[in-house]
Amino acid sequence: MSGHGARARRLRRNPIIRDLVHETDLHLSNLVQPYFLAAQKNVKEPITGFTGVYRWSLDLLSKKIEIDLANGLKNFLLFGAAHSEKKDELGTEGYEEKGLLPSAIRTLKERFSDSIVLISDVCLCPYTSHGHCGLVKRTTTTLEIDNDSSLQPLGEMALVHARSGVDIVAPSDMMDFRIGHIREVLDNNNFTQTAIMAYTAKYASSYYGPFREALGSAPQGIDRSTYQMDFRNSTEALRELETDLAEGADIVMVKPALAYLDVIREFKERSPVPVAAYSVSAEYQMVKVLSASGLVDERKMALENLTAIRRSGADIIITYFAEFIAAEGWLK
Ligand code: PBG
Ligand code: ZN
Repeated sequence: MSGHGARARRLRRNPIIRDLVHETDLHLSNLVQPYFLAAQKNVKEPITGFTGVYRWSLDLLSKKIEIDLANGLKNFLLFGAAHSEKKDELGTEGYEEKGLLPSAIRTLKERFSDSIVLISDVCLCPYTSHGHCGLVKRTTTTLEIDNDSSLQPLGEMALVHARSGVDIVAPSDMMDFRIGHIREVLDNNNFTQTAIMAYTAKYASSYYGPFREALGSAPQGIDRSTYQMDFRNSTEALRELETDLAEGADIVMVKPALAYLDVIREFKERSPVPVAAYSVSAEYQMVKVLSASGLVDERKMALENLTAIRRSGADIIITYFAEFIAAEGWLK
């Protein structure tokens, strides 16, 4: 065979040509940085097994976000948590107006106003003594997660966050009907402009390990597979998509991201609202561990992964790498 016809290498000849024909971009404006809150003052507490990720006291987080902003990163997802002695069966601390997360929302929104987008995690697991995302119903021998009684506290939590000034609430509990319920509660209280980012296809996954360490939110008794999705399924995610859209989700999310690129693609093809992907704690830590052992280049692998998530169709990516990408200019 000689030189006739299609030759793919013609467009790979040099970096300028490769740039000319490249299809997918990462931008800081599409990235969201998650942060974990700590109750004390003046702490930046490392988390075991979660390299470079900390629990932040509000004073230090406020300074950190100022630096992030200067670096061009503007979107943040905040997680609260209750101290173990404050956790209870109903997750009461989670919808306390003076709680950690609502206080942080108020302080940060007062300071930064609309120069940042603030997203808040809405879920019961950081606040319940049993560590489940919904309320439990017990008999002497069994424990069940009760869907419908969980809606009221989740709605209450979303409302408290909205009152504190959050831009977007992000319910991560996977109870049925919670998007519709939260939308109704927000609208009835005139928070028609507070958006909902739904964890629409959230899978029961091994990739949440480091995160559970961060929040101390490992579930007791049973795992989360009666409410989170089974990783053998993708068609079922379309049903979740349909219901979350019908109930008023403004953004739909797939989580985790890397092992679920097919689901992200399906969502992108069908969803009239933006698609977010949450590249979760173990996706991040895998890169950290491999690069610490010298087997891969951290930046290159992180950017390859995040670009793949974009390429599969994600408009928005939630990633623990966002602050480093911004601070160290990885995209420049
Ligand atoms: C729970 C929640 C989880 C994450 C965010 N919210 C995991 C879980 O089901 O325990 C995981 C995030 C991560 O691993 O980075 N509502
Ligand atoms: Zn939860």
